[in-house]
Amino acid sequence: MKLIVGNWKLNPKTLKEAQKLALALNKAKTKNKVVLCPPYLYLPLIKSKFELGSQDLFWQEQGAYTGQVSGSMLKQFKVKYAIIGHSEKREVGDTDQEINLKLKAAIANKIIPILCVGFGIESGEDDEEVMIRIQNQLELDLKDVDPSKVIVAYEPVWAIGSGKAASAEHAEKTAMFIRMKFHIKKVLYGGSTNPTNAKEFLSKQIDGLLVGGSSIKADDFYKMITL
Ligand code: PGA
Repeated sequence: MKLIVGNWKLNPKTLKEAQKLALALNKAKTKNKVVLCPPYLYLPLIKSKFELGSQDLFWQEQGAYTGQVSGSMLKQFKVKYAIIGHSEKREVGDTDQEINLKLKAAIANKIIPILCVGFGIESGEDDEEVMIRIQNQLELDLKDVDPSKVIVAYEPVWAIGSGKAASAEHAEKTAMFIRMKFHIKKVLYGGSTNPTNAKEFLSKQIDGLLVGGSSIKADDFYKMITL
């Protein structure tokens, strides 16, 4: 059984479309575990037989923090997972220190964090360079965090939304490194996965996929979760 997570990002534009997407996926019969991560506002309004995840959370529980959403708030809307440290959040300012606090806040609220790591290295897949950088990122992100409570998603930044996925071999190698070095139980791959290349990733020692663009196309995601 693999874990397939749909990161809807800032999509779809309307609640109606979001509900339609969730409804279409409800028809899927799958042995995989599927998690849908719609925008915050849609979370309580999505009727899905699959579990829900948020795309982020804030580390404080309450107070003067304009625009933030806490783990305990999300918990009240049946949110079981939270994507943390996505490269699109790191790009707009999330530091490793903040990501570390977010991981702790998720775990304190019994929300399973899906920690995203990865770099946009020019050479693309220089395994050694990737491992060194990822090790550095994970050491900071996981400081004083119980790794057995964290799922990691390896997402090379150059592969996200680019239509150019990493090779399944590189993804597997990196996943094995993360599992062994950091005692992480589950490592996903993310970055330009689609119904055509998903099968190859899932045939490797990779625990599942974090899917962006293809997760908001009902037909594509349906195919991916029923592989
Ligand atoms: P993508 O996004 O599948 O559109 O490349 C993956 C992600 O950002 O998690």
